[in-house]
Amino acid sequence: MKEALHGCTIGFVGGGAMAEAIIAGLLRAGIAPEAIFVGEVRSERRKALEQSYRVRTTEDNAAVAAASDVLLIAVKPQQIAKALAPLFGVCKPDATVVSVAAGISTAKLRGWLGEKVAIVRAMPNTPALIGEGITALYSDADAGHRARAEAVLGACGEVVWIEDEEEMHAITAISGSGPAYLFLLAELMMRAGERLGLDAALADRLVRRTLLGAARLLVVRDEAPSALRAQVTSPGGTTEAALGVLFDRGLPEAMREAIAAAAARSRELGER
Ligand SMILES: NC(=O)c1ccc[n+]([C@@H]2O[C@H](COP(=O)([O-])OP(=O)(O)OC[C@H]3O[C@@H](n4cnc5c(N)ncnc54)[C@H](OP(=O)(O)O)[C@@H]3O)[C@@H](O)[C@H]2O)c1
Repeated sequence: MKEALHGCTIGFVGGGAMAEAIIAGLLRAGIAPEAIFVGEVRSERRKALEQSYRVRTTEDNAAVAAASDVLLIAVKPQQIAKALAPLFGVCKPDATVVSVAAGISTAKLRGWLGEKVAIVRAMPNTPALIGEGITALYSDADAGHRARAEAVLGACGEVVWIEDEEEMHAITAISGSGPAYLFLLAELMMRAGERLGLDAALADRLVRRTLLGAARLLVVRDEAPSALRAQVTSPGGTTEAALGVLFDRGLPEAMREAIAAAAARSRELGER
C-alpha cells in the first residue's frame, strides 16, 4: 500500500475529526509525519495536530494544495465552497484530490478546483481512528489515482469501490453515520440498565463488551444477523419479550425512516 504513496506529500484541507482519524491511520501504516501537511483555520487544532502527530500545519490552504500529491478535502460540506474557491487551478497537475465531504459531487468539486483535476470521493467512518473503519470510494479517474486514494483510506480499515456515485448518499446514511446509531443504542442500553438498578459503571462495562462481542460475531460468523438473533431468542424467553416491545414500538420503521433522512440530508448538502 505504501508504494502508491511513495514520495508523495499528503495534504489536508481541514484538520478536524475525520482528518485526524486518517492521519492516525497513515502514521500507523508507516507514512512519515513530514510527508503530511495540514491546512486548518483553528490555531488550537493546528497546535494539537503538530504536538500529537508531528505533522506540518498551516492556515494557508493554497500552500497545502500547491505542495500536495494527494490532497484530502476534510472540511464540513457547509464549509467546502469557501475553502475550495481560492484553490482553483492551484493543485499540482498530477495531484489526486480525495474528498470525504458528505453529499458533495465530483462535478461540484471540479467546478471549484478545475475540470482536469483527478477526483476521488470517499465516505469513511470514525472507527478509522483505530484502523477499524470502512470507506466507500468512487472515482472516474485512472488506476494510479485510485491506487493512491485506496492506499490512504486503506490505512484506516477496509475499502470498497462503487461504480455509481449516486450510491454515496445511501452509503453515507449507512456506514458514514452508522457508528452513531450504535452509540445511541449503547447509551439507551446503559440508561435502561441503570433504571433497573445496576451501578452505572457496571452497566457501562456490560454494554460495551456486549456490543463488541456481538459486532465481532457478526463479522466472524458467515450468518445473517437475523439467524444470529434467532440463536439468542428462545421462545417465551427474555430476549423474545424485549424484541416484542421493539417491534411493537416500531423500531424497524424508525430505523428505515432515520436512514432515509440521512440519505436525504446528504442529497440536500450536495444541492446547496
Ligand atoms: N465525522 C464523521 O463521522 C464523518 C464520516 C464520514 C465523512 N465525514 C466528512 O468529513 C468531513 C469533515 O468532518 P469532521 O467531522 O472531521 O468535521 P470537523 O471536525 O468540523 O473538521 C473540519 C475542520 O476544518 C476546519 N475548517 C473549516 N473551514 C476551513 C477552511 N476553509 N480551511 C481549513 N480548515 C477549515 C474546521 O474548523 P471550524 O470548526 O472552525 O469550522 C474544523 O476544524 C465532512 O465533510 C464530513 O462530511 C465525516
